[in-house]
Amino acid sequence: MSDSAILAAKAELPKAIAASAKLVDSALDAVLPQPAGRQARVQEAMRYAIMAGGKRLRPFLVLHSARLFGVEDTRALRVGAAIEALHTYSLVHDDLPCMDDDDLRRGRPTTHIAFDEMTAVLAGDALLTISFEILADARTHPSADVRCALIARLAEASGHSGMIGGQIIDMLADASFGVEDVIDLQRRKTGQLFEFSCEAGPILGGASPEDRARLKAYAEDMGVVFQITDDLLDVTSTAEKTGKAVGKDADMGKQTLVTLLGLEGARAEAEKRARRAVAALGPHAARAPELSALPFFLLDRDA
Ligand code: IPE
Ligand code: IPE
Ligand code: MG
Ligand code: MG
Ligand code: MG
Repeated sequence: MSDSAILAAKAELPKAIAASAKLVDSALDAVLPQPAGRQARVQEAMRYAIMAGGKRLRPFLVLHSARLFGVEDTRALRVGAAIEALHTYSLVHDDLPCMDDDDLRRGRPTTHIAFDEMTAVLAGDALLTISFEILADARTHPSADVRCALIARLAEASGHSGMIGGQIIDMLADASFGVEDVIDLQRRKTGQLFEFSCEAGPILGGASPEDRARLKAYAEDMGVVFQITDDLLDVTSTAEKTGKAVGKDADMGKQTLVTLLGLEGARAEAEKRARRAVAALGPHAARAPELSALPFFLLDRDA
């Protein structure tokens, strides 16, 4: 895809992201429980955490990777709701006093501040389990094999060697971490959920192993671009813009690609990865301008 085509697609991207977020929010509203009965408090906290907004990037990736393979939006949006529920659980727990101890998320008090720690732990647990309940439902896909493939991939991406693995490495990381260590940590902590999101389309659409591998390779580099820009924003942005505390990485003495390569070096690495991500899409790059533009859009984001 040419640079000018990517620039044109990038200009259209905010509209495409907003349109997808609207669809995802309705899908989430439909699948989340309405608070009722003695368990209402945990259901309210689930809605509080997830309906606070957020960029909805993972569902955006599911939707566009699915459209590439002719999958109906209704199915992709259920998978988008599932990954957003799982991602939100990871944030609710990440903000707890025993982890990053943060008070602000998505522009509002974190769930344990708005409710209490006990409710936040349970709401996170319930968001995690509901994501698998959504995937297991026949409305997500009529084939039990496809549903099982989605469930297995999400379990792998979010589990002990994926997101959770990345979180423990992150919590235990020390100043000896080098570039490769940081990239490995980030691939697990944030990259794996992006990989799931991009592989969901080919899984739902019964695409070839080659096509699934293309989307996975795209997600690997896109995930690093995302995380480098998250780390850059931690240094350069404000809590008003990002909706969460900034300066946390430095406060906690964390090595990131920004501390290891410097602001310019980290940005150069992100640019290299953005180009490589689009190249990995191969023949699909031009058919999915939203996916092609996203890594470049992330490079310029300020929130
Ligand atoms: C924040 O993810 C946590 C990280 C993985 C660094 P996002 O930046 O996608 O957060 P939301 O969903 O938009 O709030
Ligand atoms: C959180 O990473 C990633 C997960 C919850 C898996 P961070 O701790 O860097 O995310 P922020 O900066 O709080 O959003
Ligand atoms: Mg953290
Ligand atoms: Mg955090
Ligand atoms: Mg961060």
